[in-house]
Order: sequence, then structure tokens, then C-alpha cells
Amino acid sequence: MRMRNKYRKPTNLRCNAGSLCSLSAAVWGLVGCLLMLHFYSVLHQKVVQGGDIQMRMSQNPLIREFEQVEEENIQIPPPRGKRSPRAIKRRPRRATALIDEFLDESSQLRHVFFPDQRTAIDPKKDARNDSFSYYPGRIWLDTDGNPIQAHGGGILYDEKLRTYFWYGEYKDGPTYHGHKKGAARVDIIGVGCYSSKDLWTWKNEGIVLAAEETSETHDLHKSNVLERPKVVFNDKTGKYVMWMHIDDANYTKASVGVAISNSPTGPFDYLYSRRPHGFDSRDMAIFKDDDGVAYLIYSSDDNSELHIGPLNQDYLDVTRVVRRILVGQHREAPALFKHEGTYYMITSGCTGWAPNEALAHAAESILGPWETMGNPCVGGNKDFRLTTFFAQSTFVLPLPGLPGSFIFMADRWNPADLRNSRYVWLPLTVGGAADGPLEYNFGFPLWSRVSIYWHKRWRLPYTWSGKE
Ligand code: DGJ
Repeated sequence: MRMRNKYRKPTNLRCNAGSLCSLSAAVWGLVGCLLMLHFYSVLHQKVVQGGDIQMRMSQNPLIREFEQVEEENIQIPPPRGKRSPRAIKRRPRRATALIDEFLDESSQLRHVFFPDQRTAIDPKKDARNDSFSYYPGRIWLDTDGNPIQAHGGGILYDEKLRTYFWYGEYKDGPTYHGHKKGAARVDIIGVGCYSSKDLWTWKNEGIVLAAEETSETHDLHKSNVLERPKVVFNDKTGKYVMWMHIDDANYTKASVGVAISNSPTGPFDYLYSRRPHGFDSRDMAIFKDDDGVAYLIYSSDDNSELHIGPLNQDYLDVTRVVRRILVGQHREAPALFKHEGTYYMITSGCTGWAPNEALAHAAESILGPWETMGNPCVGGNKDFRLTTFFAQSTFVLPLPGLPGSFIFMADRWNPADLRNSRYVWLPLTVGGAADGPLEYNFGFPLWSRVSIYWHKRWRLPYTWSGKE
């Protein structure tokens, strides 16, 4: 017979005292419920990592359409002997046969990646069924019927004018190689600007910052490099401020340039270039936070890490505050956005003009620490997902009225003919648990999942009508 230890202290878990018992039962019940909820949400999201199918359906019917992704089944033609040496040189590390086809200018599949003029999106003609449809990769015409030239760009929404302005590299010139080993390039022509009320019909507002014609020592002389221009409006000074990557043809100047204007459609006055915080700076972006503070983010230390820091009050310079983030991760093409107080960013790897795998990152504070969550691309097929749909991030635009929904803007570069590079715009949503969160809080992932959904054709919800 076992003896009861009459000296043992009763613990809170013993149910003799009714109130204590019910309190602890309630607490454990709550914990149990939360755990069940967590496992339910995990189990009801079919997620297979490593480039395979991922499905999560939103409760919001407006967004559900975004998530109904399309699969791509592209038959790869039999090999035709040697690839062009340039295609071989640009081949990314995790390349597959389809990526080889993409990089080969004479591939039989060229039309899949770079559909010809006949399929161009023409807002002046594409009425009825096709109006407001985005076709990633197709030629996109402005209201004059010319292909839009706004590569490596970004969008500013002007509250006063209730208009979107899309700025980007105007690359409508011949592509050439400065020297044998140099990257394909187009001489600087300037920064193109297009305006729109509906994000689909774009009017050409002209070149708002033009190349310098005469002075060879000027940053904007045509022989240099001007990439990834971004414009923000400064509420305090009432000025439109443009930041851009300024470089020489060999990418050794590695600086940022700043220009300013009284109007979104320019002309912008070029102020200067410099190495921010004294560091080399290549791919860059500007992000304006809700409190009006704008941040510069740039690839640095030979693209091995990113740096981020606030601009000063007039947005014309950086301050002394700067943080090194994603150190050693070799990321470029940063595109930053915010949702429910959390900062997110999409970046690419560093493979010149060749596409590679995107990664999504998240942070509670914009200055970091930043965590890498994984590849956000959903749908298409594995090759599409491992190449960011054969494109490279440039900007993420919030969709007013659709919280958690964004447009992911990317460039499908055409290094053989850079002016004929294409735009890949796709829906991006934030929601649900991230696949590979590195940090947990009470067993719950700290970050929401970022997903970019592949569609051959898609449009914004019929009921979406811009900011109004
Ligand atoms: C990748 C960058 O993201 C582009 O903006 C451009 O600089 C190319 N490299 C040049 O190879």
C-alpha cells in the first residue's frame, strides 16, 4: 500500500480549491486553443518548399482571384548544338534548361519570354474584355502607342493631383558592350515619366531628367550609367526629390545621385552624386515611411550587403545614421514596403542582367535586424519561381483600399536589346504564416507570409478604382 505524504504542499494544479482550479483550467484551455488554431492554420495551408506548389486561399473574395495562380508547362525544344557564349557567361548557378532557353537570344522559345508587337497591351485599343488586363512580359504601349520606357522604375502617388507617376530608365537606344568583358549597356538618355489614374493607361510625360549632351565629366553624360530612379514627395519643402544609382560604364563610381523639381513631371534639376555614408552604392531604392521619414537602401561592399539609413529633413542627403543589413547575403534590386507596422522587402541575387531567385525579408524596425523568409514566388513552374518569373524586382506598390495587397513590379531584362526589356507586374499579398520563419514568438511565427502570384493575365478587382 502506498502511503500518502501528508506533508506535501498542495500545488495550484490540485483541484480542491475551486477557483484556482478553474483559473488554471481556463489558462491551459486558452493555450490549448491557441495551439490548435496554430496547427489548424499550418495544416490548412498546402505548402511544399523548394520551388513546388504552394496554395493558400484568402477569405477576401477580391484577393482570392490573385491567388488562383496558373501553372506553366513549357516544352523545351531539343538541344541545337552550342549556346551563344554570352548566354553561357550569364548562366546563374541554379540554372535549368528553361533558363538556358531564356538566356539564348536565338532560342525557339524567345516569343514565350518576349512576345512580339502583335500581342502588345494597347490601352487605346484593348477595350471591353481586355481593358485593365496586365500581361506580364508583353510589350506595353503608352497612350501615344509607343512602348513604355520606365525600366528599373518606381511609382509615386501624388495626393494633390490624385495621379500615379511611374519613373524609370528611358532606354530607347542601341545596346552595345563598351568592351569585351563589360556588361551590355545603353547610353544614358534620361529618366522617363508616365502618368496614370488607373495604373493601366499611361501617358508619356517626357524625359524629366535628361542626359548631359556636352560635358564629358558630368555624371549624366551619356557614357555613364543612370539606373533605378525613384521619386518621393517632401511634404515639408513641397519638392519632388529623385534619387538614382549613378555610375561610370565599369560600375566603379558606385554612387547615388539626387535631383529636385517643383513638379512631378519635372524638369528635375540634378544636384550632385556621392557615395552615401562614404560607402560604395549600386542598386538602390527610397522608401517613405508613414511618419514622413524617407530612407535610402543600397547594395554595398561590392554588393555583399545592403545599407539602410534615413534621409535628412529635405530628403537631399543622408544623415549619419546607417545600418548594415543582410550582411554577406549578396542581394540587390531592393523593393521595400510596409504592412501593419512590419517592414518587408523583396531582393534579387547578383547575376547581372540574368534573372535569379527572389527572396522576401521582414523586420520590425526598418533599421533592422532584417530576417530572410524565403522565395515569395507562387505558381508558374519551378523555373519561373527560381527566376522571379524571369524578372528582377524594382518596386512594390501598395493598393489603396486593399490592405495587404500590392503590385510587385519587376523588370524582365533583355540584355541583347535592353530597350526591349519587359515589365512583369504581379499581385503580391501579405498574410498567413511564413514558410520558414527564423523567429518565433510563443510558438507563433513572427512574420506574415509574402506571396507573389504568377498570372499570364490578371487585373485589379473590378471594384478597385484607385485612391478615391
Ligand atoms: C543588376 C542590377 O540590378 C541592374 O540594375 C543593372 O545594374 C545590372 N545588374 C547591370 O548588369
